[in-house]
Amino acid sequence: LFQNIPLAEPDKIFHLTATYVQDKFPQKVNLGVGAYRDNDGNPWILPVVRKAEQIIINDPNTNHEYLQITGLPTFRTASAKLILGVDSPAIKENRVSTCQSISGTGANHLGFLFLSRFYRKDVPVLISNPTWVNHKDIVRSVGLEFREYAYYNPKTNGLDIDGFLEALNDAPNGSIVLLHACAHNPTGVDPSQEQWCKIADVIGAKNHFPFFDCAYQGFASGDLDKDAWAVRHFVQRGFELLICQSYSKNFGLYGQRAGCLTVVSKNADAAIKIESQLARLQRAEISNPPAYGARIVSLVLNDPQLHAEWVEDLRTMSYRIIEMRKQLYDKLIELRTPGTWNHILEQIGMFSYTGLRTSQVKVLIQKYHIYLTDNGRISMAGLSTKNIDYFAKSLDDVVRN
Ligand code: LMR
Repeated sequence: LFQNIPLAEPDKIFHLTATYVQDKFPQKVNLGVGAYRDNDGNPWILPVVRKAEQIIINDPNTNHEYLQITGLPTFRTASAKLILGVDSPAIKENRVSTCQSISGTGANHLGFLFLSRFYRKDVPVLISNPTWVNHKDIVRSVGLEFREYAYYNPKTNGLDIDGFLEALNDAPNGSIVLLHACAHNPTGVDPSQEQWCKIADVIGAKNHFPFFDCAYQGFASGDLDKDAWAVRHFVQRGFELLICQSYSKNFGLYGQRAGCLTVVSKNADAAIKIESQLARLQRAEISNPPAYGARIVSLVLNDPQLHAEWVEDLRTMSYRIIEMRKQLYDKLIELRTPGTWNHILEQIGMFSYTGLRTSQVKVLIQKYHIYLTDNGRISMAGLSTKNIDYFAKSLDDVVRN
C-alpha cells in the first residue's frame, strides 16, 4: 500500500541534534536547536521550576485527572495577563478567549486551524522571509496558503522595513499576517517600536489580521513587559488578533509542551463563541492538554514570590546569552575575521543570523563538528566560555577560505 510514498526529508533542526548526539568528536558544538544551555553546555532546570515541582509533588491534592478541554483555568488567565498586561482593557472587557495548547507549535496549529474554519479562506497567510522552519508546514497542514514578506536585509544584517511594508501593502486586503512578537526566529532582528507603529498602520489600513507568535517573552530583553510591547500596542489600537505563547524557552519546559492560544476579539459575546469553538477543535485533536508543565507555569505566574524568582532566572539566561554575544564579537575582532560582525551584538534573543552561506555551514559541520542550521543561524545559548574560542577560530577559518 505505501511502498510508493515519497520518503520525507528529516526536520532541519531536530535532525541536526540527532547527528550531533551521534558525533564522537570531543570538541563538538551544538548551535542548532534553540534550547538554553548553561556554561557547561548542559540543559538548565530553572531553580524556580524545581521549587514549583516540589510544591506540586508534595501537594496532597495533586492528581492525574484530565484537565478541561481548554486546559487549566489558572494557567490560561495567567497566560493572558502575562502577554496582554495585568491592566489590559481587553481582559477587563472580557473579550479575550484562551485555550491551553501543546506549546507554541500547538498554539500555532490551533490558531491557524481556527482561522481556516472561521475566517476568510480567500486570503494568504503572510510569513516573514525567513521564518521558523515549522511555520510553513503548520500553515499548509490546515489547508491555508502562504506568501512571504521581505524581512531580513542581508546587506545590513538588519530589518528590511521598506520591503516589509511594501509586501503588506501589496497583499490582498484582510490577509493574515504572522508576526514574531519578539526575538525573531531565526534572525534575532526585531522592529523598533517606531517601526512596529508603521507596521500596525499598514496592517490597519489594509484590514489585515495580526497573528502573533510569542515563543521568547523575557528572552529578548530580559524584561517581560518590554518583550510584550508590540502585542500590547496592537491591542491598544483596537485590533482583533491572536497570540501563540510557548513556555518552552522562558521556563525551560521544552519537553512538557506548555503553551497557550489567546484570541482578542471585539466583545464578550464573540469571546465566548470563539472559546467554545476552540474547545471543539481541541477535542478532536488532543482531547485535553497535558497538565504537568501547565501546573508549574500556573503556580509560578500566580505567586508573587515565585514570579519574582522566575524573573531572576530569566535574567540569568538572557544575560549569559548577551555575554556570549560580546565575547564572540570581541574574539572575531581580535582575529580580524573578514567582514563586519556588529550584528552579533545587535541581534537579540536566542539566535544570531551570522550571514554564513550554506557552503560555509557545511564546512563547519563536516570539518569542525560545529552544528548549525544551513541558513547560518546559531543558537547563542550553545556557546560557552569553554567552546567560544574554538567556535570563533573555526568561523574565522571558514570565512577566510
Ligand atoms: C528552534 O527554532 O530551534 C526551536 O524553536 C525548536 C523547534 O521546535 O524548532
